[in-house]
Amino acid sequence: MAEKEKPLARYAVMGNPVAHSKSPAIHKQFAHQFGHHIEYTAIEAPLDGFTEAVTQFRASGGKGMNITVPFKLEAFKLAYHLSDRAKLAGAVNTFWFEPDGAIFGDNTDGAGLVHDLTKNLGVHLKDKRILVLGAGGAVRGALSPLLKQHPALLVIANRTVAKARHLAREFAHFGKLEACGFDELTGKHFDVVINGTAASLKGEVPPLPVNLFAKDAVAYDMMYGDKLTPFLEWAELHGAAKVADGLGMLVEQAAESYFIWQGVRPETKHVIAALRKGG
Ligand code: ATR
Repeated sequence: MAEKEKPLARYAVMGNPVAHSKSPAIHKQFAHQFGHHIEYTAIEAPLDGFTEAVTQFRASGGKGMNITVPFKLEAFKLAYHLSDRAKLAGAVNTFWFEPDGAIFGDNTDGAGLVHDLTKNLGVHLKDKRILVLGAGGAVRGALSPLLKQHPALLVIANRTVAKARHLAREFAHFGKLEACGFDELTGKHFDVVINGTAASLKGEVPPLPVNLFAKDAVAYDMMYGDKLTPFLEWAELHGAAKVADGLGMLVEQAAESYFIWQGVRPETKHVIAALRKGG
């Protein structure tokens, strides 16, 4: 059957709020690359109605979904089968639905981050000293993909130190992992510093010591915006050689989801460039 004659495969991103989501634009561009005939919409589920919204979407012919804030933990609980990386992340951002009704849950966020760093930005993580700021859901999802790149050391620094220590203990068997508070970073230097805190959302920067960046260091913010995030502005001022926001991570996690659904990996470079231009 020609691609155009097949029934329209339906996909969506579900969140609350979700109107701002770039995922429909990203997946439309992916589908265009392959001539795939799909629909990808943004669905705002009521805060207390995620499960019902998923059921409705499936009943209307939904084949797969992305899940965004604040439903990633609920999605984790709802999935019948979980990938190993979803189990490690404790959160799900990708569903696909089997004809027998089973929901599969995966998490492509961490893979998206590592792909953006290593493939798009050319940052080699092996034997590097990595600092991750924050100890919430976003950081949890990134830890095992980062540690699989065999850094020399990964330090988790968080405002609430106990949460960083908890994560470090949980992921200790994946590599050399330490935890501390921001004040304990004084005198330490890192090759890659990744901001996974929600501070940028509030226009804030975690209280970091100056001289944090080693020579040629990279600063990465999982957040993105029309201009540099406060953390990246700070990083530029304080000696980071290269700064990058999380737009690439967003596109890469989407590409990974697309691969799960369609079995093909989209080209991402031009999609990232188009989004930067507001496309
Ligand atoms: P997410 O799922 O996006 O990671 P989260 O689980 O609520 O969101 O985690 C938010 C993270 O940002 C936490 O590490 C939080 O620090 P605490 O554990 O101490 O709450 C961190 N965070 C939020 N606002 C911050 C700020 N202004 N400065 C530093 N860290 C901040």
